[in-house]
Amino acid sequence: MHKIEIIPLTGVEREFNENELIVSKTDLTGKLTYGNRLFFNLAGMNEEECLGKQHNIVRHPDMPRCVFDLLWRTLQAGEELFAYVVNRSSNGDHYWVFAHVTPSTDMNGTVNGYHSNRRSPNRTILNESIIPLYKRLLRVEKDDPSPRSGLEKSKAMIADLLAERKQGFNEFMFSLEG
Ligand SMILES: Cc1cc2nc3c(=O)[nH]c(=O)nc-3n(C[C@H](O)[C@H](O)[C@H](O)COP(=O)(O)O)c2cc1C
Repeated sequence: MHKIEIIPLTGVEREFNENELIVSKTDLTGKLTYGNRLFFNLAGMNEEECLGKQHNIVRHPDMPRCVFDLLWRTLQAGEELFAYVVNRSSNGDHYWVFAHVTPSTDMNGTVNGYHSNRRSPNRTILNESIIPLYKRLLRVEKDDPSPRSGLEKSKAMIADLLAERKQGFNEFMFSLEG
């Protein structure tokens, strides 16, 4: 098991082709139950190192907590979320994705896990919209001495932004133009 949390970031971005998909699946608690080959390649870990571990094994410190808060609230409401995410590879490299995360169900329609498909993101959307937005959200979270109130503030920032644009989060994601 790599102790990726103590490996410094390299600043090197890993890219993948627009015709490729990164796939992973989790149980109801967010523990990895499946990854495709590209998932393991980019994470820089093999199946044995990943399966059974929490999906935050690829968490990058630049990601605002409010995005994951929204992700889990959305999944627990039985809905899907589209979001841009930066992940960390085990050697400290990073890779940006545009993710579609959704509950998966058994034959009776009972939710039995979660599933994420990720495409290569549009670079202009990242540079002009997502990276500046995530920086603002992260700063609000980090500047607050209380993690809890920092999270409430970044959540309120997203809520205000969506209210101003009269959009839901997924709609907002798809309205960004590159
Ligand atoms: C299907 C699925 C896919 C996920 N994919 C990612 C991912 O690619 N990167 C990531 O950092 N978190 C991902 N998460 C969210 C993690 O479970 C976790 O909430 C997040 O990494 C924040 O971790 P933390 O609360 O320990 O900081 C995913 C969750 C699910 C259910």
